[in-house]
Amino acid sequence: MEDIVGLCKRRGFIFASSEIYGGYNGFYDYGPLGVELRNNIKQAWWRDFVHRRDDIEGLDSSIIMHPKIWKASGHVDGFSDPLVDCKESKKRYRADQLFIAPVILDGETCGYVAFVEGADAAAIVKRAKKLRDSLDKKQATLDEDALATQHTEFTDATDAQRAQTLAPAATAVGSLTAPREFKLMFETKVGPLADDSAVAYLRPETAQGIFANYKNIVDTGRVKIPFGIAQTGKAFRNEITPRNFIFHSREFEQMEIEYFIAPDADWKALHRDWIDQCTNWLVSIGLSPEGITEDIHPTEKLAFYSQATTDLMYQFPHGEQELWGIACRSDYDLKQHQEHSGKSMEIFDEATKRKYVPHVIEPSLGVDRTLLAVLTAAYCEDEVPNDKGQVEKRTVMKFSPKIAPVKAAVFPLLKNKPELVSVAEKLYKKLQRRWNVFYDASGAIGRRYRRQDEIGTPYGITIDFDTIEKDGTVTLRDRDTCEQRRVTEAELIEFLEAQIDG
Ligand code: GAP
Repeated sequence: MEDIVGLCKRRGFIFASSEIYGGYNGFYDYGPLGVELRNNIKQAWWRDFVHRRDDIEGLDSSIIMHPKIWKASGHVDGFSDPLVDCKESKKRYRADQLFIAPVILDGETCGYVAFVEGADAAAIVKRAKKLRDSLDKKQATLDEDALATQHTEFTDATDAQRAQTLAPAATAVGSLTAPREFKLMFETKVGPLADDSAVAYLRPETAQGIFANYKNIVDTGRVKIPFGIAQTGKAFRNEITPRNFIFHSREFEQMEIEYFIAPDADWKALHRDWIDQCTNWLVSIGLSPEGITEDIHPTEKLAFYSQATTDLMYQFPHGEQELWGIACRSDYDLKQHQEHSGKSMEIFDEATKRKYVPHVIEPSLGVDRTLLAVLTAAYCEDEVPNDKGQVEKRTVMKFSPKIAPVKAAVFPLLKNKPELVSVAEKLYKKLQRRWNVFYDASGAIGRRYRRQDEIGTPYGITIDFDTIEKDGTVTLRDRDTCEQRRVTEAELIEFLEAQIDG
């Protein structure tokens, strides 16, 4: 993760928000290359799920919507995380991400150490020894096996256990409070009134904008069951512990589809089909299939509205974590909005001549998490020969050409030969009309290649003396294999089209 964060800052992908003021936890800014990568991911998703399908329509709803929407959806009353405060260190934890392990000394449980999800075993043992020493039992044998295996989620800890628990950043036991519900929606006030009637929320998901507009889209007459509505856009959650770079932030972007189906449709088969489509899409933008696994939520842990949820998990630098949630939400949301708004959410199904409130399958993907997965998959260090034939280490981002921020770089072999420069500039201007390409005339050609490798530009195009003196062909270099071949301009454009737009 450190390597990725370092490269992102150095090469202008991602910066901490408000960095000149020390940063702002849970918020990030995307630099020149980051914004390209981010836009390319969103455009690839939109192209594949909206433009290249006949059954999905697009939408862009407002971020702040009528507060009644969030009452109907259940967010006002139920969208919260269990918060735990440490009275000593003033740190805050999410109870479901905090665990305790028993400190067993000479066979007797003498206390507990708390640690956050993902903490390493050696650190837990160190904390346990600290607790042992503070109990004046320095000579007692510590059961390290129990520390490694007997973990209880803090949500399930009893009052007695809590009183004996050493918090992660505390020096004495008993500093952690019992979990309490912490509301995740950001509140704001709309209009000049300062009272409670002005309270509104920044949306915590884009999905409700889709449900709120479902009737409008049905009434346009463009859709028939089954059909989907897709939306990309910002979402905001006042996460208790934003962490792991852009993985878990307070302002992020989602790409969501609500796919409406008949109530008696074979939702299990459709759900399976969506899981496969989503997996294939991730592979199409460069994630390896081996890095993607499925986490099927057990029935007892399903959200109250969900019939089934499967998360596509990805092997991030900080472990295997959720990337894409694919939920069968039944007719819960539409029925809630029907009840709260008094407007019918029924659709007339021409095929079966029936009226009903449809059910929905919801594939919900985070843009920022996808970007982190893409960065993780692309990051690579290897060895390649330099201009002098010596083997050299390089950092290379192996982005798929479909989403790479810069698609190709054009180089005149020498910058002081106007005949090379003018041909290179002409080709650059031509390619620039279609794709984000880069022009670089300065430095040894090997160094120019290396600079592009580090930002993941898939193709290098060099204009040399053969171009101007012989057949007009240019050298096309492949970022990953470093192989070079000569192509005509027409072949070059046909090749780029297939790789980038295909
Ligand atoms: N409408 C359903 C919904 O919002 P979710 O599982 O809460 O479901 C869907 O979120 C996706 O949004 C997640 O799989 C993840 O990719 C992304 N996401 C959620 N919370 C996030 C956060 N705090 N930071 C970055 N991405 C987040």
